Amino acid sequence: MTATLIDGLAIAKSLRLQAAERAQACVAKGRAAGLAVVLVGNNPASQVYVRNKIKACAEVGITSRLIEKPDTLSEIELLSIIDALNRDPEIDGILVQLPLPKQLDAHRVIEAIAADKDVDGFHVSNAGALMIGRPLFQPCTPYGVMKLLESINAPIWGAHAVICGASNIVGKPMAMMLLARGATVTVCNSKTQRLQEHTRRADILVAAVGRPHMISADMVKPGAIVIDIGINRLADGRLVGDVDFASVSHVASAITPVPGGVGPMTIAMLLINTLESAERRLHLLQP
Ligand code: GUN
Repeated sequence: MTATLIDGLAIAKSLRLQAAERAQACVAKGRAAGLAVVLVGNNPASQVYVRNKIKACAEVGITSRLIEKPDTLSEIELLSIIDALNRDPEIDGILVQLPLPKQLDAHRVIEAIAADKDVDGFHVSNAGALMIGRPLFQPCTPYGVMKLLESINAPIWGAHAVICGASNIVGKPMAMMLLARGATVTVCNSKTQRLQEHTRRADILVAAVGRPHMISADMVKPGAIVIDIGINRLADGRLVGDVDFASVSHVASAITPVPGGVGPMTIAMLLINTLESAERRLHLLQP
């Protein structure tokens, strides 16, 4: 079997076109949607991610404000920046790029963001709302995965979904979203014994581990849908996922590539969340 390629770049592009129309509607209603991005320190990967987010905003007509601070920033200073953004009427979304330098407590920082501006969906009240099936903002990466599954009409109801990785920002919210759509969900973590016995039962296999080529063809049930969330830089500079694409693409029925799979969707969903927040504030949507 040779798998269908799930083209995240093309799907993200069509979402960005829709986002541009919604951004125009915000402008027509009074003002552009606004996203504040806070970057602390000089982590090179974070700098690239943030630059891409800012660029994507500009392309669809969302106003962005980049706040860059040195890695010596104190928690008090960061909390006061967030407080000002919470009260700023032109800001609909606030994103603090993670990871933060070690003197800053990421949990405390995220909890300081107003939940109705938390377009990352990381705030404890947004995580809780997702858990009880009443999401306000859904974390962008798993939200993007749900859009990819929809794009291929993947049968989710009654399917067995196996997620490798249990992080707060990807694995756990992914489990909640799939559960809400009627999947039977297994979440594996670094302590899971006989991982292959779990992954081979998956109709939908999601890899979010951060280990290059960890999922090999013998770990995949023939015909499974395989979603690769990993982005790993090899010593030779190549960017690869958690899935051994070359072999798994002969076993799976559908598969996301890296790059060009889940990555572009994460940014597209950030735009969608920011627009949804602006639409709520501008009364284009019911609260
Ligand atoms: N670091 C890695 N991924 C993300 C993300 O989606 N949002 C934020 N704020 N930081 C990240």
